[in-house]
This record gives sequence, structure tokens and C-alpha cells, in this order.
Amino acid sequence: MFKRFDTLIDTIISRMSLDEKIGQLNQICFSTDPKTIDHIKDMIRKGQVGSLILAASSTAGNDDNSSVNRELLNEFQHVAVNESPNKIPLVFARDVIYGHRTVYPIPLAQSCSFNSSLIEECYSDIAEEASSDGIHWTFSPMLDLCRDPRWGRIIETPGEDPFVAGKIAQAVIKGFQGNFEKGKLVACAKHFIGYGASEAGRDYHHTEISDYSLYNYYLPAFRSAVKSGVGTVMSSFNDINGENVGSSRFYMNDILREHLGFEGFVISDWGAVRLPLRQGTAVNDADCAEQCINAGTDMDMVESSYINNLKALVEEQRVAEQTIDKAVKRILRVKLAKGLFENPYCEAIVFDRQKHLQNSRKLAAESMVLLKNDNKTLPLEKDKNIILIGPFVNERRSLLGSWTLDGRAEETQNLYEAFCETVGKERISNSICGNADTIVLALGETNQMNGEAHSLADISVTQEQKELILRAKATGKRVVGVLFYGRPVALEDVEQYFDAILYAWHSGSCTAHAVCDILFGKTSPSGRLSVTFPKKTGHIPIYYNALRPGKTVNAYYGDVWQGALSACYIDGLANPMYPFGFGLTYTEFSYGEITAEKQELSLSDIENGESFKLKVSVKNIGEFSAKETVQLYVCDKVASVMRPLKELKGYLKKQIEPGEISDFEFELGKEQLGFYLKDGSFKLEKGEFDLYIGENCLTERKITVKII
Ligand code: GLC
Repeated sequence: MFKRFDTLIDTIISRMSLDEKIGQLNQICFSTDPKTIDHIKDMIRKGQVGSLILAASSTAGNDDNSSVNRELLNEFQHVAVNESPNKIPLVFARDVIYGHRTVYPIPLAQSCSFNSSLIEECYSDIAEEASSDGIHWTFSPMLDLCRDPRWGRIIETPGEDPFVAGKIAQAVIKGFQGNFEKGKLVACAKHFIGYGASEAGRDYHHTEISDYSLYNYYLPAFRSAVKSGVGTVMSSFNDINGENVGSSRFYMNDILREHLGFEGFVISDWGAVRLPLRQGTAVNDADCAEQCINAGTDMDMVESSYINNLKALVEEQRVAEQTIDKAVKRILRVKLAKGLFENPYCEAIVFDRQKHLQNSRKLAAESMVLLKNDNKTLPLEKDKNIILIGPFVNERRSLLGSWTLDGRAEETQNLYEAFCETVGKERISNSICGNADTIVLALGETNQMNGEAHSLADISVTQEQKELILRAKATGKRVVGVLFYGRPVALEDVEQYFDAILYAWHSGSCTAHAVCDILFGKTSPSGRLSVTFPKKTGHIPIYYNALRPGKTVNAYYGDVWQGALSACYIDGLANPMYPFGFGLTYTEFSYGEITAEKQELSLSDIENGESFKLKVSVKNIGEFSAKETVQLYVCDKVASVMRPLKELKGYLKKQIEPGEISDFEFELGKEQLGFYLKDGSFKLEKGEFDLYIGENCLTERKITVKII
């Protein structure tokens, strides 16, 4: 993909001094401060800069004073391509995570849409808006597998499942990059690797990840990203088993480049080159630079560790110049692929902002998850009075989530405004004793309650909001909870007081309208959970694709096990509040029997690429048109190593009209039935496989096939 430029690059590199090569490995902060502009231009002129990051702070999302200035970017670029020693263009980077001016749902919400094609279209929208402002490169998608909602950055993840994460990686990268035509961005798969396993959900913390888990749980998303042609990867802050990832040749070279075949370049996370110093595996800054460049971290994000140390390290023969050349080559591959040499300057492009907002509203509605709907409380009737109360009725900024640098709260409708547009102001009361038989309670966490460096020790609903829920319940009216959170929250002690619960997440510029589209039946909810909702914080981590425990335990996941000696915890059943894949709609679906093309296949045929099909019919037996997400789970019943209870290996989402029967077909082969051994080799073994097809991971609807 990127190696096609290598001959040209070799020529460019042959003309570069060591100083200029090192300059390409240096990313500095963009600034509009007049005092620093001339200094930045001077560094560019000397060939000391490869990239600028358009951000002003190191903790993601809390960056209110960073900005983009197309004219100034073009001035910097003009210096680079006219006055620097070899006229190499700069690449401008920014954290365009889930939106630019139009903001889409936070990534964790998006992953609940199970709608990859819509996600890809939305990221194509985002690329248009960001590239029009002069941005070339974004630090997204974040692909960290996470099973711990205490971690503030779970909001940026694709959830707990490797298959969903792989589909998200593909959709986001294809949407962002396309074929690097005009209006596209270079994407960045991050954080490589294992950051989402930070112990106890504490940010930047230690992780223990076995190679077996690495290959089977954490790597699949990055495998998909590399297969999708991602241009860059970002190294992560964490250590794995006592080894700093960014300075580890095993992770940054052996796994990322040799095992996955990644050809682009690696940028460190913010200041991450210097982490070994604080982790006690480096004696000084030069040591850090030596370890990270030799490991395969190509570009230093804003730490100036490479620009300050690499020349001396080459002279002392601690770093080979060929190592520097390799890093420069990988960076120039991406700059050439992006077309920066032919078109270094940024120009505004024409895009359809209304289409972007429509897509954002569509994706928001498909990301929201209906968790409860007793007695068909929802949808609400438009001609009835409604009581609308709670701290999120007038909230704007938080609906955009914790990491938007260019979204504008003042452009974001709040829930009250959306309700007025939907049912009319005269029907809405803001008093808990209002003249209406239904209360809509708008609760949640603000955008400052999650994100980088914002972990929580307790994920239950705040006391203040609990009291409001109890007061609403005490009225005897129906209570509909609309919950605006970025992370899963523990609802065990409040769930009972709601008649209906819509998990609206932080779903971007059109959150409020998407909520009304669902509450008043314009569209049926169709989101499915991409992450398990624990009953309480103490049950974390709990995830559906766990390995099977040897003793009969009570509800490690799913229901009580037969003959359980005791609960996992003596203070309560530890099955999920809501399981992976769960979500309600306004209708009901009836599943037919699963049929398999074959139920016995030879190992050699499958290894040689043979596949087989499973089919199931699903009928909409309700009165609402709705989308069903049919999920395929695989259980390798007996293997040479322990395998998970169930693993998602396919899903299909389709609109089904009332009375309609729709056929769903899945194709399975080696990729769906095999697994990785801890040495990284892929294995398919003989034996029985239970293949489940249903509406969430607890489905018992299955068919058994045998590999002989
Ligand atoms: C932050 C984040 C990373 C982000 C980078 C640049 O610390 O960890 O995700 O892309 O720095 O802002």
C-alpha cells in the first residue's frame, strides 16, 4: 500500500542531512501566538519540523484554547516547501475523534449502532469538514478494547468485543482515508496497544496482558486497521507486563510490523517518548530516545526528545543512521500517499453540512439503546401533555461528549427545544406535579465526568439524581428515563423506578432530536450494547466473551449455573444488568430455526478455504417497523486451550416491516472458527462448535457443527 513510493523516497533521503532526517521525526505544537510564530517558521526553515499538532494541551478533550487557522497553516507550509533544505511538506494533525464542526455520537455509542456502513459515511463527512479547515491527519480511530467503565476513556472505545472493534476500525479508516482523494484525512489507529486494560480503570496505568489475550482480544482491531490501510499508528502510554509499549521492539516491530504487516509510521502519544524515565527503565532523556527509536516509534509527539538527542546517539553509534532512515521513509510514504508533495496547501472545500447533520441524527438514533420499556410505555403520544424535568433538559455542551475541539455547544439543540419542536411548548410542563401522566427524566453525566484522566471509582448514579428519580416515582406517574452518559453506569439500585429507560449516551450535535425521534415513535430504537452493563462497580470487570470457569459459579456471566455452590459474591448475583448485544425495539421479532448448509466438515477443507452458510428467518410479529441486529456467536466446545463462552463472529442489521419475514445468512470458515495460540500462530482444531444466532449474547438458539 505505502511501499510503492520507496524508490522516490530513497532518492529524497539520499539528499537529506542527518539533522533534516531527525527533523522529520519531530512533531511540535501549532500556535497562533504571534510571539512563537516566527520561532516555528525558523525551525521549519531549518528542516527541524516534520509535523504540527493543532492542539494546546496534552489531556484529550480538555483543550478549549486550541484552534485551526488555515491561513497560518498555509504560511507554515509555504516556508516548508520553499525554504527548508529539501522542501519536504509538513503534515498537520488534530484530534478529530468523532466530529469536527458537526459532532457525531461518541465512539462507544457509535459501536452500539452495529451499522458500519453508516459509520463509514459519517467519517467521510467528518473528513470533509476537517480537511476543509486544513487538517491532513487525525488521531482516530481509538481501538482500545475495554471492559472497565471506571476508565474515563471507555467513551472513546468500540467496547469489549474484538469483532465489533474490527468492524469499527474498517469503517472509520475507510471513511476517513478513502483513497486519500481530496477531502480525506490520514487516520491513526490508537493506542497501540493494551491501554484499555489499565488496571482498575485508572488512566495511564499498568496492564497485564498475556500473549494469548493480546492475539485474541486486543490485536484483532489493529489487524483490521492495518488490513484497511491505516496510514499511522499511535503508541500507547501503558506498559504491558512491565514493558513500556512505545519502547518495546516486541510490540512496535515484531507484532505491529512483522506480525500485522503495518507499512505506515508510528507516532508516540503526547510526550510518551519520555515515559521510560518515569517508569524507571531509562536513566535519562537520551536513553528514552534511543529505546523508542530503536523499538520502532518513528515520530516524537511534542517532547523534543528526538530532536535533542538522536544526532548524538547516532554519533555514539547507539542508534544506527539506517534506523533513522527507516523512520523517515515511513513518514514520507504517508506524506506522499496523502498527496502533500503535489498539493501542500489547504483550501476550503464545498460540502453539504445539512447532509452531515442528517447523518449525525441518524447515527445518534441508531446508537441509542432502549434498555427498558414496561407495558409499552414508549413510544409517547404527541397529543398528550408531558412533564420534562432533570439536569439534562437544558444541557447542550455535554451532549457533544468529552472530546470535541470544534463542535459548538451554542449550535446544539437541548432537549427542551427538541421537545417544543416535536410536541409544542404548550404540552410541556417543567413541574414534577404537572398535569400529565408521564414524566420524562433527563439525567446523565457531564462531558467533564469522562474522557482522558477522568476515571471514576464508582459508576453508580449520583445521590442527587437518585433522589430525583425517587421523587418522580412517588408521584405515581409513568417515569421515562433518558440517560445521557458517556460510559455505562450501574443502574441496579434505580432501574426498578423507571417504566422505560433510553440510553442516549452523548450523541453529538443532534442528540436531542434523535431522542425525540425515538421517544415519539418517528423511528424505533435499534441500538445494541457493545459493552456489558454491570449491576454495580464491584462486579467490574465483567464481559461476555470470558473464558469458561472450571468451577460451577453463579452468574459470572449470563444466568445462574446449575448447582452453583454459591454466588460469585455472597452479597448478590453477579450477572450483568444488561448483557452484551442487548437492546429493545418497539416491535417483537420471532426467530425461525437455524439451518446449516452442512453440519459436518473436514478440517482440511476448511483450512483450504472452504466455508459453509447458516440461515435463519426473522419475522416482525409486532406493529412497528424496526431494525433487528441478528448476531452470530461461536463456541468452540473443546479445544487445546480454553476458549470463551461465546464469541461474536458476525452480525447483520436490517429493517423489517410488520408482518415481514426476512432471511439472514452468515458464512463461516477458518477465520470464524479458529483462534490464535500464544505464539501468534492461527489454529483451527477438530471438534464440535455450537453456533448461536439471536438478539444478544444470552441467546440459547443454536446449531452444532462438527469439524472432523
Ligand atoms: C493525548 C491522548 C491521545 C491524543 C494525543 C494528542 O494524551 O492520549 O489519544 O491523540 O494526546 O492530543
